[in-house]
Amino acid sequence: MKYLNAAVEAVDKNAQSERRNKVALYWEGEDGTKKKITFLEMSLLSNKFASVLKSYGIQREDRVFFFLPRVPELFYGFLGALKTGAIAGTMFAAFGPQALQDRLDNSDAKILVTNQALKPRIDKVRSKLPNLKHVIVIESDAFQKRMADASNQFRIAQTQEEDPAFMLYTSGTTGKPKGVVHVHKAIYHQQKTAKLVLDLQEDDIYWCTADPGWVTGIAYEILGTLSLGASTVVHEGRFTPETWYRILQEYKVSVWYTAPTAIRMLAAAGTDLVKKYDLSSLRHMTSVGEPLNPEPIKWGKKAFGLYFYDTYWQTETGGMMIANRPGLKIKLGSMGKPLPGIEAAVADDKGNLLKVKQPGNLVFKKGWDSMMRKIWRRPKKYESYFKKGWYVTGDQAYKDEDGYYWFVGRADDVIKTSGERVGPFEVESALVDHPAVVEAGVIGKPDKLRGEIIKAFVTLKKDVKPTEKLKEELSEFVKHHLAGHAYPREIEFIERLPKTRSGKIMRRILKAKELGLDIGDTSTLEEY
Ligand code: PRX
Repeated sequence: MKYLNAAVEAVDKNAQSERRNKVALYWEGEDGTKKKITFLEMSLLSNKFASVLKSYGIQREDRVFFFLPRVPELFYGFLGALKTGAIAGTMFAAFGPQALQDRLDNSDAKILVTNQALKPRIDKVRSKLPNLKHVIVIESDAFQKRMADASNQFRIAQTQEEDPAFMLYTSGTTGKPKGVVHVHKAIYHQQKTAKLVLDLQEDDIYWCTADPGWVTGIAYEILGTLSLGASTVVHEGRFTPETWYRILQEYKVSVWYTAPTAIRMLAAAGTDLVKKYDLSSLRHMTSVGEPLNPEPIKWGKKAFGLYFYDTYWQTETGGMMIANRPGLKIKLGSMGKPLPGIEAAVADDKGNLLKVKQPGNLVFKKGWDSMMRKIWRRPKKYESYFKKGWYVTGDQAYKDEDGYYWFVGRADDVIKTSGERVGPFEVESALVDHPAVVEAGVIGKPDKLRGEIIKAFVTLKKDVKPTEKLKEELSEFVKHHLAGHAYPREIEFIERLPKTRSGKIMRRILKAKELGLDIGDTSTLEEY
């Protein structure tokens, strides 16, 4: 097998080339602080970080997790972890103690890197994580001193193409989040697709608005895009239309990768606002994470004079699978066509391939470079994603006569709220931890702005009053325990939840009821 380290591909190769003094990251902090980090600096900082991890005893394939906002330490820290041969994991900064515990416990993380502001959430669950040996706080004197003293030369682990490199927890319909493991070789697919779809050229200034707590940030804000030598803007702060337009203008962003909810929020702020900024550098706009309907695309054309190119993929696929791309005519509302090297199809539940225009399960022929290689500690679960040599996405789609793919919906109960993936089971579990709650059923409710919002149906203990105040309290409870983005925006108290005879909550029925649709076959239902 071939030696390969994704951090070397992403950064060191550029640091050793004529790009060494080219800016890799244009970073802007929440408080307005600005930093430029060149490829050479990224290479040396990640070497130092790797040295620090070694000084804490990190070994090959140990898990190193990052719980940080979009600060430079997250970027060179992640790369440094790869250089040691450890498996790097990231966690979105909106996570609460329960979400952190689930991930750190399942992965048996040895080191966690965080900051002062986020550390209290780890402290709440630290006693339940006996294998977590070190919590590194980036502002601490101890860490600062180790970084200062660390060598900026590092003997990079002799990792091979198929060695694990990074992992991300993601949600399904049932159970706790699953640890999706990717190998170093994933970077080949990420690089190839970044070139083809994002169309990155030497002089581009690229802005990916995603967070490295999710897969988009890892594949197209760190690995694939840096490997192409792209100068990348990273904005730590929050979204407002004014801030985003200012960033596009100030950094002369030319290629932009964002998400439908953000586009809809920009559209809601109006076209006049866009016209106040000089966005003449912008030449290519792309989107991911949820269905991109024709309306936001049309608005984009009106506001920026460009089309948003939709791209489709998942945490599990590790890189883009189906996309619109330069040179391919856009059909508004379609996800585009499978990328070179990717074989896509639509199959029925038995795995038989379907014909053109027949909706079914979107599947991909097993074996591309950035395909997940493992679900951490759950080999059976991993196998369940494959049928007859095809990887089954959990999404439904159809293919048209020209080979374009059209998204239909999820085949399961996974929720996409503001483009972020949330498992209903996690939200239900968080709700039943509240003393007033007996049971909860959670669904994604269609929403014009956010794609879906989380709606919870809750049954209460006998003596508890179903007040509006309690609804707020429950939402806050989930926000703090589970995650800032995964709380129910709507709660409805009901007498009893629809269940199968074996006691499983029928979210399908809750959703049908909510949407005023036919409830469908209820023969397996308990009396309802
Ligand atoms: O349902 C699909 C939706 O997002 C899911 C994957 O989410 P996640 O693993 O968080 O990765 C998101 C970023 C790569 C998919 O199963 N999805 C993603 N892109 C699209 C989409 N739905 C419709 N159109 C898309 N372009």
